[in-house]
Amino acid sequence: MNAKSSRAEGEHRIAVYPGSFDPVTFGHLDIIRRAAKQFDRLIVAVLNNTSKSPLFTVEERKGLLLEVTKDLPNVEIGSFRDLLVRYMRSQQAQVIVRGIRSVTDFEYELQMASTNRQLDEGIETIFMMTNPKYSYLSSSIVKEIAKFDGAVQDLVPPSVEAALRGKFGRSE
Ligand code: PNS
Repeated sequence: MNAKSSRAEGEHRIAVYPGSFDPVTFGHLDIIRRAAKQFDRLIVAVLNNTSKSPLFTVEERKGLLLEVTKDLPNVEIGSFRDLLVRYMRSQQAQVIVRGIRSVTDFEYELQMASTNRQLDEGIETIFMMTNPKYSYLSSSIVKEIAKFDGAVQDLVPPSVEAALRGKFGRSE
Protein backbone atom coordinates (compact mmCIF):
# COMPACT_ATOMS: atom_id res chain seq x y z
CA MET A 1 0.00 0.00 0.00
CA ASN A 2 1.28 3.50 -0.70
CA ALA A 3 0.25 6.84 0.79
CA LYS A 4 -2.03 7.69 -2.11
CA SER A 5 -3.88 4.39 -2.21
CA SER A 6 -5.98 2.60 0.34
CA ARG A 7 -5.74 -0.54 -1.78
CA ALA A 8 -3.21 -3.25 -1.19
CA GLU A 9 -0.63 -3.77 -3.92
CA GLY A 10 -1.98 -6.22 -6.49
CA GLU A 11 -5.57 -5.87 -5.31
CA HIS A 12 -7.91 -5.38 -8.23
CA ARG A 13 -11.14 -3.42 -8.32
CA ILE A 14 -13.64 -5.82 -9.79
CA ALA A 15 -17.17 -4.72 -10.67
CA VAL A 16 -20.15 -6.67 -11.92
CA TYR A 17 -22.74 -5.18 -14.25
CA PRO A 18 -25.69 -7.58 -13.89
CA GLY A 19 -28.81 -7.75 -15.99
CA SER A 20 -31.04 -9.71 -18.32
CA PHE A 21 -29.44 -8.32 -21.51
CA ASP A 22 -32.22 -9.81 -23.67
CA PRO A 23 -30.65 -8.48 -25.86
CA VAL A 24 -27.82 -6.01 -25.18
CA THR A 25 -28.60 -2.51 -26.49
CA PHE A 26 -26.56 0.65 -27.16
CA GLY A 27 -27.79 1.87 -23.76
CA HIS A 28 -26.14 -1.13 -22.03
CA LEU A 29 -23.03 -0.76 -24.16
CA ASP A 30 -22.68 2.89 -23.14
CA ILE A 31 -22.71 1.85 -19.46
CA ILE A 32 -20.28 -1.04 -20.14
CA ARG A 33 -17.77 1.26 -21.87
CA ARG A 34 -17.91 3.91 -19.19
CA ALA A 35 -17.82 1.43 -16.28
CA ALA A 36 -14.88 -0.44 -17.82
CA LYS A 37 -12.82 2.75 -17.48
CA GLN A 38 -13.49 2.91 -13.75
CA PHE A 39 -12.47 -0.63 -12.75
CA ASP A 40 -9.61 -3.04 -13.31
CA ARG A 41 -12.10 -5.73 -14.36
CA LEU A 42 -15.74 -5.46 -15.30
CA ILE A 43 -17.80 -8.62 -15.45
CA VAL A 44 -21.04 -8.28 -17.39
CA ALA A 45 -23.23 -10.95 -15.80
CA VAL A 46 -26.35 -12.34 -17.44
CA LEU A 47 -29.08 -13.56 -15.11
CA ASN A 48 -30.06 -17.11 -16.00
CA ASN A 49 -33.61 -16.82 -14.77
CA THR A 50 -35.83 -19.80 -15.47
CA SER A 51 -38.99 -17.97 -14.35
CA LYS A 52 -38.75 -15.39 -17.16
CA SER A 53 -39.20 -16.38 -20.79
CA PRO A 54 -36.45 -14.55 -22.63
CA LEU A 55 -36.19 -14.20 -26.40
CA PHE A 56 -32.51 -15.20 -26.38
CA THR A 57 -31.00 -18.10 -24.44
CA VAL A 58 -28.32 -17.29 -21.90
CA GLU A 59 -25.67 -18.63 -24.29
CA GLU A 60 -26.99 -16.42 -27.11
CA ARG A 61 -27.06 -13.37 -24.84
CA LYS A 62 -23.51 -14.08 -23.66
CA GLY A 63 -22.36 -14.59 -27.25
CA LEU A 64 -23.77 -11.22 -28.30
CA LEU A 65 -22.20 -9.51 -25.29
CA LEU A 66 -18.85 -11.11 -26.11
CA GLU A 67 -19.09 -9.90 -29.69
CA VAL A 68 -19.98 -6.31 -28.82
CA THR A 69 -17.32 -5.98 -26.08
CA LYS A 70 -14.46 -7.66 -27.95
CA ASP A 71 -12.52 -4.37 -28.13
CA LEU A 72 -12.67 -3.92 -24.34
CA PRO A 73 -9.83 -5.98 -22.84
CA ASN A 74 -10.90 -5.69 -19.19
CA VAL A 75 -14.50 -6.72 -19.81
CA GLU A 76 -15.57 -10.33 -19.27
CA ILE A 77 -18.92 -11.99 -19.74
CA GLY A 78 -20.42 -14.32 -17.17
CA SER A 79 -23.76 -15.60 -15.95
CA PHE A 80 -25.39 -16.42 -12.65
CA ARG A 81 -28.55 -18.20 -11.62
CA ASP A 82 -29.34 -17.27 -8.04
CA LEU A 83 -28.45 -14.42 -5.68
CA LEU A 84 -26.31 -11.70 -7.19
CA VAL A 85 -24.39 -11.18 -3.94
CA ARG A 86 -23.40 -14.84 -3.98
CA TYR A 87 -22.07 -14.47 -7.52
CA MET A 88 -20.24 -11.30 -6.48
CA ARG A 89 -18.48 -13.19 -3.70
CA SER A 90 -17.55 -16.05 -6.05
CA GLN A 91 -15.87 -13.50 -8.34
CA GLN A 92 -14.24 -11.49 -5.51
CA ALA A 93 -16.14 -8.48 -6.86
CA GLN A 94 -16.89 -5.52 -4.61
CA VAL A 95 -19.09 -3.25 -6.72
CA ILE A 96 -22.38 -3.69 -8.56
CA VAL A 97 -22.88 -1.29 -11.47
CA ARG A 98 -26.35 -0.34 -12.63
CA GLY A 99 -27.54 2.20 -15.17
CA ILE A 100 -30.38 4.60 -14.41
CA ARG A 101 -32.34 6.03 -17.31
CA SER A 102 -35.01 8.02 -15.53
CA VAL A 103 -36.77 8.55 -12.22
CA THR A 104 -38.97 5.57 -12.99
CA ASP A 105 -35.90 3.32 -12.78
CA PHE A 106 -34.93 4.80 -9.45
CA GLU A 107 -37.44 3.13 -7.12
CA TYR A 108 -36.71 -0.36 -8.41
CA GLU A 109 -32.98 0.27 -8.31
CA LEU A 110 -33.13 1.64 -4.78
CA GLN A 111 -35.03 -1.46 -3.65
CA MET A 112 -32.51 -3.75 -5.32
CA ALA A 113 -29.48 -1.89 -3.96
CA SER A 114 -30.97 -1.87 -0.46
CA THR A 115 -31.75 -5.59 -0.66
CA ASN A 116 -28.24 -6.39 -1.80
CA ARG A 117 -26.83 -4.22 0.97
CA GLN A 118 -28.99 -6.07 3.50
CA LEU A 119 -27.69 -9.39 2.14
CA ASP A 120 -24.04 -8.29 2.12
CA GLU A 121 -22.87 -5.02 3.63
CA GLY A 122 -19.48 -5.34 1.98
CA ILE A 123 -20.90 -4.94 -1.50
CA GLU A 124 -21.55 -1.47 -2.87
CA THR A 125 -23.90 -0.53 -5.69
CA ILE A 126 -22.97 2.39 -7.88
CA PHE A 127 -25.24 3.99 -10.46
CA MET A 128 -24.35 5.56 -13.75
CA MET A 129 -26.78 7.81 -15.55
CA THR A 130 -27.51 6.43 -18.98
CA ASN A 131 -26.56 8.69 -21.87
CA PRO A 132 -29.71 10.84 -22.43
CA LYS A 133 -29.59 9.69 -26.05
CA TYR A 134 -30.67 6.25 -24.81
CA SER A 135 -32.93 7.26 -21.92
CA TYR A 136 -36.02 5.78 -23.61
CA LEU A 137 -34.28 2.61 -24.74
CA SER A 138 -34.86 -0.86 -23.30
CA SER A 139 -34.46 -4.43 -24.49
CA SER A 140 -38.28 -4.77 -24.47
CA ILE A 141 -38.69 -1.75 -26.77
CA VAL A 142 -36.07 -3.18 -29.13
CA LYS A 143 -37.84 -6.57 -29.25
CA GLU A 144 -41.20 -4.90 -29.85
CA ILE A 145 -39.83 -2.88 -32.78
CA ALA A 146 -37.96 -5.86 -34.26
CA LYS A 147 -41.02 -8.07 -33.94
CA PHE A 148 -42.98 -5.69 -36.15
CA ASP A 149 -40.10 -5.34 -38.59
CA GLY A 150 -39.14 -1.81 -37.54
CA ALA A 151 -35.63 -0.38 -37.84
CA VAL A 152 -33.42 -1.08 -34.84
CA GLN A 153 -30.01 -0.14 -36.28
CA ASP A 154 -29.78 2.99 -34.12
CA LEU A 155 -30.66 1.04 -30.99
CA VAL A 156 -28.47 -2.07 -31.06
CA PRO A 157 -25.11 -3.12 -32.56
CA PRO A 158 -25.21 -4.83 -35.99
CA SER A 159 -24.66 -8.35 -34.56
CA VAL A 160 -27.69 -7.90 -32.29
CA GLU A 161 -29.73 -6.55 -35.19
CA ALA A 162 -28.84 -9.67 -37.20
CA ALA A 163 -29.72 -11.93 -34.27
CA LEU A 164 -33.10 -10.21 -33.92
CA ARG A 165 -33.76 -10.74 -37.62
CA GLY A 166 -32.91 -14.40 -37.09
CA LYS A 167 -35.41 -14.68 -34.22
CA PHE A 168 -38.22 -12.91 -36.04
CA GLY A 169 -37.59 -14.68 -39.33
CA ARG A 170 -36.76 -11.68 -41.49
CA SER A 171 -34.39 -12.08 -44.36
CA GLU A 172 -33.11 -8.47 -44.18
O1 PNS B 1 -31.77 -6.20 -16.52
P1 PNS B 1 -32.63 -6.43 -15.31
O2 PNS B 1 -33.65 -7.50 -15.61
O3 PNS B 1 -33.23 -5.16 -14.79
O4 PNS B 1 -31.65 -7.00 -14.15
C1 PNS B 1 -32.15 -7.37 -12.89
C2 PNS B 1 -31.10 -8.19 -12.10
C3 PNS B 1 -30.64 -9.38 -12.88
C4 PNS B 1 -29.93 -7.30 -11.77
C5 PNS B 1 -31.78 -8.62 -10.76
O5 PNS B 1 -33.01 -9.21 -11.03
C6 PNS B 1 -30.94 -9.61 -9.95
O6 PNS B 1 -29.87 -9.30 -9.48
N1 PNS B 1 -31.46 -10.85 -9.79
C7 PNS B 1 -30.76 -11.92 -9.09
C8 PNS B 1 -31.50 -12.34 -7.84
C9 PNS B 1 -31.09 -11.49 -6.65
O7 PNS B 1 -29.95 -11.40 -6.27
N2 PNS B 1 -32.10 -10.83 -6.01
C10 PNS B 1 -31.85 -9.97 -4.87
C11 PNS B 1 -31.65 -8.51 -5.28
S1 PNS B 1 -33.15 -7.81 -5.88
